[in-house]
Amino acid sequence: MARGKKIYEGKAKILFEGPEPGTIVQYFKDDATAFNAEKKDVIDGKGVLNNRLSEYFMTGLTQIGVPTHFLKRLNMREQLVRSCEIIPLEVIVRNFAAGTMSKRLGIEEGTQLPRPIVEYCYKDDSLGDPLVSEEHIAAFGWASQQDMDDILGLALRVNDFMSGVMFGVGIKLIDFKIEIGRVYEGDFQRLVVADEISPDSCRLWDIETNQKLDKDVFRRDLGSLTDAYAEVARRLGVLPKTGGHPKPTLVN
Ligand SMILES: Nc1ncnc2c1ncn2[C@@H]1O[C@H](COP(=O)(O)OP(=O)(O)O)[C@@H](O)[C@H]1O
Ligand SMILES: [Mg+2]
Repeated sequence: MARGKKIYEGKAKILFEGPEPGTIVQYFKDDATAFNAEKKDVIDGKGVLNNRLSEYFMTGLTQIGVPTHFLKRLNMREQLVRSCEIIPLEVIVRNFAAGTMSKRLGIEEGTQLPRPIVEYCYKDDSLGDPLVSEEHIAAFGWASQQDMDDILGLALRVNDFMSGVMFGVGIKLIDFKIEIGRVYEGDFQRLVVADEISPDSCRLWDIETNQKLDKDVFRRDLGSLTDAYAEVARRLGVLPKTGGHPKPTLVN
């Protein structure tokens, strides 16, 4: 396997040194966490599904000209990505109210927002990833004004792409979170979509029934998380339409 030393172990993934300088192998674990890791479990097959789904979304983004860190999938649980300097922000785009926005502002979950709303949280588990404003980001130097302009552009393009892809398979994209990385190319640097895009980092509701097909199934104990993720994968054609459990039916 083309991986070297372990660099970092997070809540959902492990990073290893890649085969070439500037590359990283991302290993997708089955661990699920919620509420800043207060709730934890191991969900058989989740990592395999997220590896495939993140590959699918990142590849699609690349094809429409949105730069990402994704290079190639290596196997069921690993993908090769470009190593980047992660900007310490969670960039959230919301199309419908849900989760913390609903709580904070008293808006019923599922209410369509007048336009997509972009929020930033400071990426720090010990602080519980607090919501911050662009004032904080500028004052503390987490990103420059140019970065913020680029990040907003990337976030909205990812939103349009993901909303369209999901709408095509009867799913409403309620909201999602991305991370942005900085890569250096000679004297230039640019920002790319990094980390992962998967049902762990999106809210996805069936258009007809509002059934949740994302990590809220785990957060709120709504049933089988792998069934929900496998349903998303199946609708997107990432998994064969027939076949039960995702593990034996996955083709590499
Ligand atoms: N291309 C990349 N280069 C460097 N770091 C990355 C890249 N993509 C994602 N990361 C970082 O790797 C970690 C992924 O592991 P994860 O389990 O999601 O961690 P966490 O518990 O910190 O969310 C995250 O901290 C993320 O910021
Ligand atoms: Mg993470």
